[in-house]
Amino acid sequence: MTFRQDGAAALEWAARYLERVDELPVLAQVEPGEIRARLPVSPPEEPEPFEAVLRDLDEVLVPGLTNWQSPRFLAYYSVSAAEPGILAELLAATLNQVGFLWRTSPALTELELHTVDWVRQLLGLPEGWHGHIEDTASTSTIAALAAAREATGGKAVLMSEHANVAIEKAARLLGLEPRKVPVDSEFKLRADALELEDAAAVVATVGTTAASAVDPVVAIADACEATGTWLHVDAAYAGAAWICPEFDWSREGVERAHSVVVNAHKWLFTPMDCSLLWTSRPESLRDAFSVVPDYLRTTDSEDALSLSEYGPALGRRFRALKLWAILRCYGRSGLETRIREAVRLAELFEGWVREEPGWELAAPRPFSLVCFRREASDEENEALLERVNRSGEFFLSHARLDGRYALRLSIGNERTTEADVRFAWDALRREAGVVDGK
Ligand SMILES: Cc1ncc(COP(=O)(O)O)c(C=O)c1O
Repeated sequence: MTFRQDGAAALEWAARYLERVDELPVLAQVEPGEIRARLPVSPPEEPEPFEAVLRDLDEVLVPGLTNWQSPRFLAYYSVSAAEPGILAELLAATLNQVGFLWRTSPALTELELHTVDWVRQLLGLPEGWHGHIEDTASTSTIAALAAAREATGGKAVLMSEHANVAIEKAARLLGLEPRKVPVDSEFKLRADALELEDAAAVVATVGTTAASAVDPVVAIADACEATGTWLHVDAAYAGAAWICPEFDWSREGVERAHSVVVNAHKWLFTPMDCSLLWTSRPESLRDAFSVVPDYLRTTDSEDALSLSEYGPALGRRFRALKLWAILRCYGRSGLETRIREAVRLAELFEGWVREEPGWELAAPRPFSLVCFRREASDEENEALLERVNRSGEFFLSHARLDGRYALRLSIGNERTTEADVRFAWDALRREAGVVDGK
């Protein structure tokens, strides 16, 4: 078999997977250790054909997949990898660029700066900001907080009690004290509870992981400016919504941030991984990360920017290619349409919950996440979630809001339709009856 023939078979496999992913269980129906038990204990001594890899993908690995590409994956923050991005990943692997210096891949470096600037324009962020790509928001946060530590000399990072775990991890890693700030009745950070004497940074979240709450960025920016504290905005999920003018309200104050993260791999349909980090203080990122030993020195001009001087990693893969492909093949209008459709479906589901006796909403819904519950005990809600997820028909997750268990239905996969959401709602009502013993 040749590269061309194997490649055609792999592409055919990919197309077929996407066509039938809605027929596969959403949550993997295997026990821990089951997949490893199906794999040979030792590596192959002799070469095998690529078709054997494709065969085992079907027979061994597909049963162990939790299918994030399924339109009925409605858990955590639901995401999807769009087809232009999938194809661009193949091209990126083909090119195998390693962009640690400008000269090791001028195209990678400049396309990355350019596409991230295109997204900046689409999202209405300030002109002139430096933006680049990290793998995940976890790494983007490490980079931002390292810059904050460098710029302020502060010792603590303040964040909402609902901030993503990535913030606490980044703070700990950098030797900064993570400090949780209480939230109000709508799960937004209480700006009046900020105590900033020794703070390096405040992390404001636009779209918290639990409930997609929008922290009061303007009030937080006021407090940060008064004390010289770095303001980092974590808009990993909801920042994508800024492409639609009706969500401008949720970007208010973000222009005053020192750094902002938006994950293209969350709600911009880019295959995992692609986290966009902007900063108005690129010199602080460089102060934190620029270490240039002799073997990395070049005679290239000052304009030859090395992206490895702006974050923790030296090596850098060609992530910009998939983002570029999606921006070109979808355009602003394609992205807006998909984001609006996700919000419309969430609004629809929210309405069904609101109108159904025995059910209640557990948090306001600013974007495409609905937090809700049965009017019943935490244990009953947990049992309901377990039951529907075990069926494999769709997949939801949970959060603890105000100390109470809540179910989360998140829409962000471009393949999710009204029929999928209706299916989930009907199944939830049916299963709730079973759990309640009705
Ligand atoms: C608000 C928020 N920030 C950060 C993260 C972490 O993202 P990543 O997995 O890219 O590190 C998440 C993940 O869901 C998130 O919801």
